[in-house]
Amino acid sequence: MPGRLTGKVAIVTGSSSGIGQAIAVRLAREGAHLVVDYRSHPEGADDTRKQIEATGSRAVVLQADVAKLEDTRRLVDEAWKQLGGCDILVNNAGIEKGADFWEVTEEDYDAVLDVNLKGVFFLSQAFVRRLREARRPGCIINISSVHEEMAFPHFSTYCAAKGGLRMLTRDLAVELGPAGITINNIAPGAIETPINKSLLEDKPKLEALLKNIPLARMGKSEEVAALTAFLASEEAAYITGSTYVIDGGLMVNYHEQ
Ligand code: BGC
Repeated sequence: MPGRLTGKVAIVTGSSSGIGQAIAVRLAREGAHLVVDYRSHPEGADDTRKQIEATGSRAVVLQADVAKLEDTRRLVDEAWKQLGGCDILVNNAGIEKGADFWEVTEEDYDAVLDVNLKGVFFLSQAFVRRLREARRPGCIINISSVHEEMAFPHFSTYCAAKGGLRMLTRDLAVELGPAGITINNIAPGAIETPINKSLLEDKPKLEALLKNIPLARMGKSEEVAALTAFLASEEAAYITGSTYVIDGGLMVNYHEQ
């Protein structure tokens, strides 16, 4: 649906690849101008920029690590400076590190929690501060995971972060509602993206995963992007504090034999 986001400005973190890239391009197609954030893949961010510009929207590409507070503030400041404001924040950047619980190092704990939870917290804070000063409404969408709810053995750090995100969203929906700022989570299941690279290359593991998915396939980044565009649009104006699961039925799956 073109035009649902005409005149809006959006930041999408981690938009140099995977779900983030698909979201940035989809929001641009619906008329938004974009801040493309990347941490370590400038070539991917450049590819996103080209796809955005091909839709006729503007793209500002910024290197920023959401785990660093000064970087989160810079992302918001640059959106206002270069694009005249910021209405939509998509907290998409995420990492995961697999390890048995008893082997997890402090370094890996910090890396996962810093990007997946602390980054969302402080970037959202910077986004909200500017909106409150300007008395403008806004919309935050967090790309969470089915693992904000469902166990993921050997990924305890990831689960701790995503579980925290679930509660953060519910809490902020209440605190930010009076300012006209909505916040929702999208909880993707198994989507074909670089985060899943090792799984996609391991046939037995992939087959075992697909057995858990009633729709019997991985999801596509574009499918997550379509849901994001809806939640960012006026059509979703009355939705806040919710999680939207997009997982081919993975989370509710149960059968005997
Ligand atoms: C994780 C993937 C995993 C999927 C389903 C996602 O949040 O990033 O590694 O395959 O959940 O379990």
